[in-house]
Amino acid sequence: MSGSHLAALREREEARFHDDHPRSRELAERARTHLVGGVPMQWMSKWPGGFPLFVAEAYGSRFIDVDGHEYVDFCLGDTGSMTGHGPTPTLEAIAAQAARGITLMLPSEDALWVGEELTRRFGLPQWQFALTATDANRFVIRLARHVTDRHKVLVFNYCYHGTVDETFATLVDGEVRSRRGNLGPPVDPSVTTKVVELNDIDALEAALAPGDVACVLAEPALTNVGIVHPEPGFHDALREITRRTGTLLVIDETHTICCGPGGYTAAEGLAPDALTIGKPIAGGIPAAAYGLSEELAGRVGRSLELEDIDVGGVGGTLAGNALSLAAIRATLADVLTAEAYERMIPLAQRWTEGVEDGIAAAGLPWHVTRLGCRAEYLFGPDRPRNGTEANAAGNFALERYMHLYALNRGVLLTPFHNMALMSPATSEADVDHHTQVFRDAVVELAAAG
Ligand SMILES: Cc1ncc(COP(=O)(O)O)c(C=O)c1O
Repeated sequence: MSGSHLAALREREEARFHDDHPRSRELAERARTHLVGGVPMQWMSKWPGGFPLFVAEAYGSRFIDVDGHEYVDFCLGDTGSMTGHGPTPTLEAIAAQAARGITLMLPSEDALWVGEELTRRFGLPQWQFALTATDANRFVIRLARHVTDRHKVLVFNYCYHGTVDETFATLVDGEVRSRRGNLGPPVDPSVTTKVVELNDIDALEAALAPGDVACVLAEPALTNVGIVHPEPGFHDALREITRRTGTLLVIDETHTICCGPGGYTAAEGLAPDALTIGKPIAGGIPAAAYGLSEELAGRVGRSLELEDIDVGGVGGTLAGNALSLAAIRATLADVLTAEAYERMIPLAQRWTEGVEDGIAAAGLPWHVTRLGCRAEYLFGPDRPRNGTEANAAGNFALERYMHLYALNRGVLLTPFHNMALMSPATSEADVDHHTQVFRDAVVELAAAG
């Protein structure tokens, strides 16, 4: 397909978006006066179409914008609403708890239930809470440095773990460099961070051999640069090398909770020293958790002085608040249940097959990958083995065309990559709607290109 064909299609889609959304356009223009860049978060200006949609309401798998258009939401708040928007059990628990007290700096009984349930799901016996997955990762990194007295962190190339300073590092010609777009790093990330490619066991071995890495922070499969699966044996090697070198293993399940009620960790029998999770566990109410092994919790506990326990750089006034815990309890008990995954995962399989058929019909050299109830297509023929390969299969101009084409026809995909997530409220009809829209988009793209 030629660049001018793609540019003409994009121009047509942009004009349609502009004409179809007068109210969103008007609000976006007004927002420029008092919101930096005209948006509440700067990255929202990256949505295709020239201005973001303003949302009137969201329920289940759908939302309605201020111009009255309805959309099937496969973005689901980039996993924050993987529960579907406003699941009834979570809403009822939030309303009941809000009327009984929102935040106190004292425990509520829900904290016990949640700790027990997280243990049942993920296997780690000791839990603490935060408000975001970013914070959960930050706190665990701090604890890892504290107990190991080592200062480096190891991550996989093209990872994303939230706005954690240590993780904005990448490999350039084998050297660790600051990731493109990293704003105001406190120090050069090569001071704090080692980076290896996922699935490169030799590089992992070499990086951990000096014994200066406090922890490996890893998504069990990469989900933020397309989906990159670990190869058979990779997790066994990761666990064996981390143990042998005295390096703690932290598994970030924030996105891979798409694999099942206990995430990839339970599905594949991983045994990390710590586990972090945020986003959907409270149905979209800010909440996150981190679990520690008995051994790590013991090391942390023995190292703390009561007098200084509130000044350690691990905390947050609102963390562990009663409202978040009530919302987590209801969400885990009645929304993100084993039965829900039994519906969600086949829906992602259906979505994947629909995309595969569209790619074949258009004869494009693309592929699609699934991980539990999450699936994603990339603009390259083969499944990537690591972050570098996945990143190379990205294409900003194509992505914007695909996303805008979908948006103009009532489908929202996750921004910045081609990812779709299924919620308990998603239906086969929702998936089939995407399949039709995807097929039309790629057939037009391939025609006369
Ligand atoms: C794997 C992973 N961990 C952590 C985070 C951070 O989540 P939050 O932005 O809610 O802090 C993200 C965000 O996308 C993520 O993908």
